Amino acid sequence: MLLAGAAAGGAYVGGMFLVGTWPSVMNTGYSPVQPEVPFSHRLHAGELKMDCRYCHNTVDKAAHAAIPANKTCTNCHSGQTGADGTIMTTALHTTSPKLQAVRESEATGRSVEWEKVHDLADYVYFNHSVHVNRGVACVSCHGRIDKMEQVRQVKPLSMSWCLECHRNPTPNLREPSDVTNMEWVPEGDAAEFGKVIAEKYNIKPNTSCSTCHR
Ligand code: HEC
Ligand code: HEC
Ligand code: HEC
Ligand code: HEC
Ligand code: HEC
Repeated sequence: MLLAGAAAGGAYVGGMFLVGTWPSVMNTGYSPVQPEVPFSHRLHAGELKMDCRYCHNTVDKAAHAAIPANKTCTNCHSGQTGADGTIMTTALHTTSPKLQAVRESEATGRSVEWEKVHDLADYVYFNHSVHVNRGVACVSCHGRIDKMEQVRQVKPLSMSWCLECHRNPTPNLREPSDVTNMEWVPEGDAAEFGKVIAEKYNIKPNTSCSTCHR
């Protein structure tokens, strides 16, 4: 009995160590400081209620969710003067030092540098559009981005995390039109609601290896 207990204890400690030091697990909470522009989702997506797709405009069309080009920012932060010499009405914070790199980028064509937050291993195939068009919301995988001053990774992006949802997606399903709504909650039980959506759109995620390892 004692020997079995010691063996089980050892295996437990070893296992916890392995899980704890797994690279993807350690990435949870990763939140790099952006080197050039302190962009705030809390302000733009939260207070100003801008839709995620205004900036991440490929997220429902392609595998990759694009980081917006400088032009997207200068729609509002350009220091351009209109034909009559007045500053354009969309000009917000045109002299802000925080937007210095955006103005430089506009003048020189050099892209603003953004530090990547989420980074899945290269041997894994992931696709944004297949998720968001099937009713899996941004908030399920990225958390309350609209409350973050600086983006933070909230999920491990590990294989077990992907599989957990692929085996039982229903608690995370909603109408595809609601995927960017950070505040949406189902009426009643999430799993019951998701079941209806899964049946309506025939949603059955794959769990075979070749789904994510091609
Ligand atoms: C005004 C433009 C804008 C809007 C609106 C916006 N984002 Fe972003 N987003 C950015 C920029 C710029 C970055 C890169 C800098 C950073 O990480 O903060 C970014 C980064 C991110 C990242 C991290 C990317 C990485 O490197 O891993 C996620 C996740 C994200 N946005 C999700 C969202 C979600 C969800 C919404 C809607 C609730 C949203 N964004 C709305 C501009 C925007
Ligand atoms: C639809 C208009 C709009 C777009 C597009 C937009 N912003 Fe903003 N931004 C605002 C508004 C409004 C404020 C805050 C105004 C205020 O102070 O109340 C702001 C404030 C900021 C500030 C803070 C400036 C300061 O000095 O406090 C930064 C930095 C910023 N935005 C970066 C960006 C970046 C980077 C992008 C592109 C990814 C972007 N914004 C796109 C409207 C926009
Ligand atoms: C099923 C989970 C899932 C959902 C839903 C999801 N994302 Fe992501 N997102 C990820 C993963 C995983 C990555 C890392 C991808 C990589 O490194 O290749 C990522 C990366 C990103 C990035 C960084 C750019 C990139 O592709 O590397 C942005 C921006 C982003 N997501 C925005 C969004 C927005 C906006 C939504 C909602 C419209 C959304 N995501 C929905 C899992 C998800
Ligand atoms: C919160 C739930 C959820 C998470 C987390 C999730 N997925 Fe999915 N995934 C789905 C749903 C739902 C579908 C759509 C299935 C359908 O169309 O029937 C899907 C579809 C896919 C597809 C398209 C092939 C297929 O199964 O039909 C790929 C590839 C995929 N996911 C990869 C990933 C990877 C890689 C991760 C982890 C980084 C991940 N997913 C995390 C729910 C999720
Ligand atoms: C839903 C998506 C998904 C499916 C299905 C899937 N994997 Fe993975 N797999 C991942 C992700 C994501 C990672 C990366 C985890 C990380 O970075 O730690 C991964 C990592 C791995 C690794 C590397 C682990 C390591 O030590 O780094 C192996 C080996 C692997 N998968 C094998 C398999 C096999 C075998 C199957 C089928 C039984 C399978 N996977 C099915 C998403 C998936």
